Amino acid sequence: MEKIGVGIIGCGGIAVAKHIPNLLKDPRVEIRGIYEEFDQKRALSAIEEFGLKFCTLYGSLEQMLAEDAIAVVHVCTPNNTHAKLSIQALKAGKHVMCEKPMATSTSDAIAMNEASRRSGKKLTICSNNRFREDSWTLKKFCEHDTLGTIYYAKATYLRRRGVPTWGSFMDKDIQGGGPVIDIGTHALDLALWMMNNYKPKCVFASTYNHLGRQTSEANPYGNWKSEDFTTEDFGVGLIKMEDGASVLLEASWLLNIREDKNAKVTLCGTKAGADMDRGLSVFGEQCGKLFDQDFLLNNQGISFYAPKTLYGPELEIKCWIDSIINDTKPVVEPYQMIAVMRIIEALYQSAETGKAVYIED
Ligand SMILES: NC(=O)c1ccc[n+]([C@@H]2O[C@H](COP(=O)([O-])OP(=O)(O)OC[C@H]3O[C@@H](n4cnc5c(N)ncnc54)[C@H](O)[C@@H]3O)[C@@H](O)[C@H]2O)c1
Repeated sequence: MEKIGVGIIGCGGIAVAKHIPNLLKDPRVEIRGIYEEFDQKRALSAIEEFGLKFCTLYGSLEQMLAEDAIAVVHVCTPNNTHAKLSIQALKAGKHVMCEKPMATSTSDAIAMNEASRRSGKKLTICSNNRFREDSWTLKKFCEHDTLGTIYYAKATYLRRRGVPTWGSFMDKDIQGGGPVIDIGTHALDLALWMMNNYKPKCVFASTYNHLGRQTSEANPYGNWKSEDFTTEDFGVGLIKMEDGASVLLEASWLLNIREDKNAKVTLCGTKAGADMDRGLSVFGEQCGKLFDQDFLLNNQGISFYAPKTLYGPELEIKCWIDSIINDTKPVVEPYQMIAVMRIIEALYQSAETGKAVYIED
């Protein structure tokens, strides 16, 4: 089988840490191009470091998109460029995997989906936390109705100290916001995916920047200048869904708490509940007794032989390439991420106005 050619737009942190190494693990693909607007030196060193024999560093995006051997494009640039670059690639006839968040506004997210529909090319967004072993397994429980109807969910991505000080993360104009859009996106996506509920009705939220206005020697990615920190450092919001279910979202880069909670959900259903606080657990009642069930993750037979089941970014890439080869829907569908974007936009609006925001379709 001929390999599927992939082009990468933006060769920064996530391209080098996730996309390139995990694309290389899939024998069905070949990385054939990189377009990097500002840091060509970094792109050249990535080509060398990863031994990308068939990869061209393009001088313009148009040139890369005109290459017939490239069928798929991964967009790995700052948030406010996601819509424009994804739409350009879709119009050029490429399938697009775009980094999260989908966009910085609902209208941009809808335009991306429209471009995908018109071109007949696939669009997916990197909601990579779905592909963790605990999330993947919990989704199966939900599909098997283990929890019944989920009417309350807590979606948490809390970092005690974890401000991404590289790139443009603290710049509201470029990123569209701070932890709520950056990492809250992951937690919220997980909750909605587990609930299979994409119909929000109303939100009420608050955001803060008390700690961002100070600085922190304890931040693992280094300190910042308080005047550069134009986003929130913490946000919390309650989302009421059309069917009456509630979702509580908490997201922070800085918060005085005991420990981090990275992209975790707690689900409460009519038959049972579940959380990811200690691996994966299910809580319920049977024959008049309450039970807590802890599931063993990472099934490992013999220590020398890696298990055959893939999880994490390798599974994310595998599922994406499967969807292209088999012409099936990607695991992360655009309509789902439009709902996430819609909620995040409303959360910011509510925090700014101090009022509940009703979401219209
Ligand atoms: N899925 C995840 O868990 C995860 C983790 C980290 C980052 N991300 C997302 O990935 C994106 C990039 O983050 P990063 O940490 O790699 O940032 P980064 O700043 O390290 O890299 C972005 C790169 O894009 C380049 N670039 C900017 N505009 C461009 C353009 N118009 N055309 C071509 N190249 C352009 C920059 O020069 C830079 O090299 C963000 O949207 C972020 O939210 C996702």
